Amino acid sequence: MLKIEGIMKRFGGLIAVDQVSLQVNQGEIFGLIGPNGAGKTTFFNILTGIYKPDAGTIMFEGEPIHGLKPYRIAKSGISRTFQNIRLLKEESVLDNVKLGMFGKTSSGLWAAILGLRTAKEEEAFVHAESQRLLELVGLADFEQLEAGSLSYGNQRRVEIARALVVRPKMLLLDEPTAGMNAEEVQEMTALIRKIRQNGTTVILIEHNVTMVTGLCDRIAVLDHGVKIADDIPEVVISNQEVIEAYIGKVDVEGVTHSAAN
Ligand SMILES: Nc1ncnc2c1ncn2[C@@H]1O[C@H](COP(=O)(O)OP(=O)(O)OP(=O)(O)O)[C@@H](O)[C@H]1O
Ligand SMILES: [Mg+2]
Repeated sequence: MLKIEGIMKRFGGLIAVDQVSLQVNQGEIFGLIGPNGAGKTTFFNILTGIYKPDAGTIMFEGEPIHGLKPYRIAKSGISRTFQNIRLLKEESVLDNVKLGMFGKTSSGLWAAILGLRTAKEEEAFVHAESQRLLELVGLADFEQLEAGSLSYGNQRRVEIARALVVRPKMLLLDEPTAGMNAEEVQEMTALIRKIRQNGTTVILIEHNVTMVTGLCDRIAVLDHGVKIADDIPEVVISNQEVIEAYIGKVDVEGVTHSAAN
């Protein structure tokens, strides 16, 4: 589904992503791990068109998407959440989810799929769809609250609902369990499984090694921008280079995590 070859991103003298190649198959939950500053978020930023890669190619469902503008890549079916939560804190939870469709209604997306003819029909549909997704992420009772009043963990769920409103083929999650307690991590794990069951392929950046190994079909490890491993979880976590670069430095809760950037 996704085939990346030799992508590279420089910031001045720093190579944040260095000749990374990887493939993600349709229906997979694919984990991306590595120490702080390894280039994981930069990788997502390249994939979603926020940064143009300095080298390399990205094929999504057989079409090149490297270098395309973010809205074009989103339109091809890739949606994401952000490491630093991006919600309109004073708007309602429901309105934040609806915003996932901002700029996409009237562009014919739903109109084409569902034969919605008027703006009113479209609004009603986005409303219902947003409520359905809030239900999916477990926030049905919160829809009228100000987004900023929710716990950190719940704000991340709102972001996921917002990312799903466009019915993406692939969802990129940047540290979805940041700031969550053990119980919330369990719930997030179940939610990601459900999202995959509903037909969306997932790439997950995560510091919680226990969660990633239990959840992901395959895991790639970045270290200083370089991919040092890419395999099934059992193989990756017993890889000596990975243990030295990363796993030796985190505990099962992912203590090296920093949610600030
Ligand atoms: N816009 C930018 N300009 C300059 N340097 C950047 C920029 N974005 C990222 N970097 C640098 O690139 C490197 C990779 O950063 P990135 O945020 O991708 O790491 P990460 O693996 O997501 O880390 P974390 O686990 O802390 O979120 C870091 O050294 C970072 O300082
Ligand atoms: Mg990051």
